[in-house]
Amino acid sequence: MKTGIVTGIGNGIGLNISLNLLKKKYTVIGISKSSNNNITELKKKYKNFIFFRLDLSKKKDTEAEVKRILKLYKNISFLINNAGIRFRRNSTESNYRTYQKVLDNNFFSAAILSNSYIKYLAAKNFKINSSIINITSIVGPRGFKDLSNYAASKGALEYFSKSLAIEYANNNIRINCIAPGFIKSSYYENFKKNAELYEWTKNRTPMNRWGEVDEIYPLVEFLLSKGSSYITGNTIYVDGGWTAQ
Ligand SMILES: NC(=O)c1ccc[n+]([C@@H]2O[C@H](COP(=O)([O-])OP(=O)(O)OC[C@H]3O[C@@H](n4cnc5c(N)ncnc54)[C@H](OP(=O)(O)O)[C@@H]3O)[C@@H](O)[C@H]2O)c1
Repeated sequence: MKTGIVTGIGNGIGLNISLNLLKKKYTVIGISKSSNNNITELKKKYKNFIFFRLDLSKKKDTEAEVKRILKLYKNISFLINNAGIRFRRNSTESNYRTYQKVLDNNFFSAAILSNSYIKYLAAKNFKINSSIINITSIVGPRGFKDLSNYAASKGALEYFSKSLAIEYANNNIRINCIAPGFIKSSYYENFKKNAELYEWTKNRTPMNRWGEVDEIYPLVEFLLSKGSSYITGNTIYVDGGWTAQ
């Protein structure tokens, strides 16, 4: 079975993707900022799970550590850049530091990891059939109040992915984005406390509900499979119809 890297696996979407991949006997090399009970459980339950604790927003550490991790495994055939932070701030209260922080976490982390992984594939003469999946967002392709920092980071990741897909279209690598809408991950319960904002997100979603975390994984499995062999440079929305509007 295939081996791959998944980032941001301690909670939410990344945890769910990892769990599903592990159940299907994929070997998952999980990278996340901190360890927690979810990760301890995965370690206990699955022999095909390997964990590295790493804050991907720390650029220098990331480059060195990712290089070291890649050296340990011979046949890594996918990379899922899922790690990311939320950041809600009015643009008048945003500054160089806030944009830098969100870009470090949501864009540079994924860009560095992708580039390191592509170098790893190049060293193997691109013989490994591989797939990179970047988790972006409907925020970016769509504008949202108070989310300019986040939108800049996810927009950067989406358009970075398209260019990379073109650059490596003939090298056995497919690069696609999954762009979720509002998904019930770790911030859901807290978000619901802001009743007005929560109702707005729900009412604005054509399906009139938030998505479940396990509504992302089926698309991951498809993008890793032969069934998606002619799909690259795409962004696929999992958003209950939000971006159709
Ligand atoms: N949920 C949504 O509605 C939604 C919508 C659109 C896009 N997304 C995107 O989907 C991805 C997952 O979101 P989620 O809602 O599942 O998030 P989540 O529940 O907050 O989980 C994020 C995971 O990523 C880890 N992480 C964050 N920054 C990291 C870093 N610098 N280095 C390593 N690990 C890091 C976190 O670790 P710690 O817990 O240790 O910080 C956590 O395990 C994100 O990229 C997010 O932007 C989510």
